[in-house]
Amino acid sequence: MKIGILTSGGDCPGLNAVIRSVGKYVFSQIKDVTVYGIADGYGGLINGEYRKMKEKDFSGILNTGGTILGTSRQPFKEMIGSDLSDEPSKLDRMLENYKKMELDLLFTLGGNGTHKTAALLSEEGCHVIGVPKTIDNDIWGTEVTFGFHSAVDVASWCIDNVHTTAASHGRTIIVEVMGNRVGWLTLYSGIAGGADVILIPEMPYDKERVIEKIQERAERGKDFSIIAIAEGAMDTEEASMKRSEMMEERAKQGYTTATDRLAKIITKETGVETRTLVPGHLQRGGNPTAYDRVLSTMLGSFAGRLARQGTSGVTVAIKNNAVAYNLLSDVAGKTKFVPLDHPLISTARSIGVSFGQKR
Ligand code: F6P
Repeated sequence: MKIGILTSGGDCPGLNAVIRSVGKYVFSQIKDVTVYGIADGYGGLINGEYRKMKEKDFSGILNTGGTILGTSRQPFKEMIGSDLSDEPSKLDRMLENYKKMELDLLFTLGGNGTHKTAALLSEEGCHVIGVPKTIDNDIWGTEVTFGFHSAVDVASWCIDNVHTTAASHGRTIIVEVMGNRVGWLTLYSGIAGGADVILIPEMPYDKERVIEKIQERAERGKDFSIIAIAEGAMDTEEASMKRSEMMEERAKQGYTTATDRLAKIITKETGVETRTLVPGHLQRGGNPTAYDRVLSTMLGSFAGRLARQGTSGVTVAIKNNAVAYNLLSDVAGKTKFVPLDHPLISTARSIGVSFGQKR
């Protein structure tokens, strides 16, 4: 059996742990197996860049961050070429290389974009098994993605550590957490780090309510506040605009991010000194946590088992706390947003956390 494996999209801790688990499973459970490591995600499949992997390549990587295969972002919209061009499209090139490599199966470890392309390859006759990766935790049909909890730990650490300095100076500190469209990472790390205000893209906030919370804390003798804001959060005014219009409006007023904008508003309206912290790609770096190592091992070995039994066109998932799978065609193009009635939101509210909305 000839198997290809690639990691695509933004990296995260746990990729190597899944690669290891898949590799160890197929080498020990499938006879006559050849594994090709494809370089830099779909980029390697497009350009025919891959190498044969030995069993020993899968050792010593359980606890390492990043990906030994490399990764790249390959936007889905660029996969299918235009009718006006005679050049083979990226999809054509991937199909050609899949054939040239004589693959029986391709493992694709990635997020939403990766799954869309995986579904397309599957529609075109390739045998594909996805494994859900992303610090955003936004893949439809799985309770959790690998990489998410490692990022939660980093973001929580950042929120934790600004408490003492905010308290010493009597400042408001805003920590910008990754997540352009979804707020899972901000919600979890905000709660774990003890943020007073949590702002996520799914719940456009009212700036008056945020200010109210800071003032209410001050009245109770807490002259500092911590805000966890998702990079894609927006206020109610911005939520009524198109994205391009919103960015234009922000630029006109002299800031580009939601965080900058909120910091200026708070300083102006409350007089409280406000600082911002953007941990950025730190949240995607470092070693996977023990939780993510266990999860990655479960997902990877299950993907191997699916390969052995000849199942493809699917992506591995966690459902009811157990490994399961979904059809790629069901997952492609969907996003798992934070539902507004999520129990963590009511839990946070019940202990006084503000989401910048009317109570
Ligand atoms: O999808 C993971 C993610 O880290 C998002 O949270 C973030 O918005 C984006 O990737 C950043 O992408 P890049 O690494 O390409 O700047």
